[in-house]
Amino acid sequence: MSISDKDFEQLRDFIYNICGMYFHSTKKYFLESRLTRRMDATGTNSYQDYYQLLKSLRGGEELKFLMDEITTNETYFFRNVPQLNALETKLLPEIVESKTKMGFRKLRIWSAGSSSGEEAYTLSMILLEKRAGLLKDWIIEIIGTDINETVISQAKEGIYNAYSVRNIPDLYKRKYIREDGGKFILSPDVKKFVTFNKLNLYDDSKMIFMKSFDFIFCANVLIYFDTASKSKVVQHFYNNLQPYGYFFVGQSESLHGVNDKFKTVHFPGGFTYKK
Ligand SMILES: C[S@@+](CC[C@H](N)C(=O)[O-])C[C@H]1O[C@@H](n2cnc3c(N)ncnc32)[C@H](O)[C@@H]1O
Repeated sequence: MSISDKDFEQLRDFIYNICGMYFHSTKKYFLESRLTRRMDATGTNSYQDYYQLLKSLRGGEELKFLMDEITTNETYFFRNVPQLNALETKLLPEIVESKTKMGFRKLRIWSAGSSSGEEAYTLSMILLEKRAGLLKDWIIEIIGTDINETVISQAKEGIYNAYSVRNIPDLYKRKYIREDGGKFILSPDVKKFVTFNKLNLYDDSKMIFMKSFDFIFCANVLIYFDTASKSKVVQHFYNNLQPYGYFFVGQSESLHGVNDKFKTVHFPGGFTYKK
């Protein structure tokens, strides 16, 4: 069923106000097809009825299914290698030194918009390799969050397909991944530093509690937001980052026009942000 401009705008604005994702009119057909699937599943006969369902008392439950339909969850291990190299060789040692001077031995990392967990577990593998040296006796906390509950369940499971693991360097693959019938199962060692929770980045009442991170990654998430919703979310990241911490976005993203408080720090093949 084709969606009228009025219904499109109403549902688009509803989604935007909930999660910050903005569907430009060029994405009308994408949204239409995803909404149609939910209308079939819920037995609603028109976009108007579906909108009323979302706004009703049962709306919260339906919203969860809608989020599963409209979010793009593409991800894989070792996605942004220059970023990971910079973290490993320069930024992590620098933070460890700063925190050691202050008497802290705990590292907190947030993968915001973690999808099925590949980014968070990539970081866990890298840090595991530092357990004998730089991070000996350190407490490591890696928190993955996403609005999509299905990907959060997959992340907690830690079982992946060949596509997801294709970029993992052999050393890590041998140590931390076990293959079983075409599935790639993560070692418990990698999982033990990482927890996953559902979190809507656009929900101020929850975002204010995500405190004191040394590294925050929000890669390939804000591309689905408009400038105003990006600014709001990035301000939370700014507030929740330690003064010596770093904030990372995806390879083709930047905070240009979104936030002018963060300072850019360049490294070979990319850049990151600092307060
Ligand atoms: C393309 S994936 C990025 C995964 C990973 N960060 C990476 O770069 O490989 C984008 C993720 O952002 C999540 N997302 C979108 N809007 C969100 C919101 N308002 N709150 C939390 N997560 C959101 C989606 O559910 C999706 O899993």
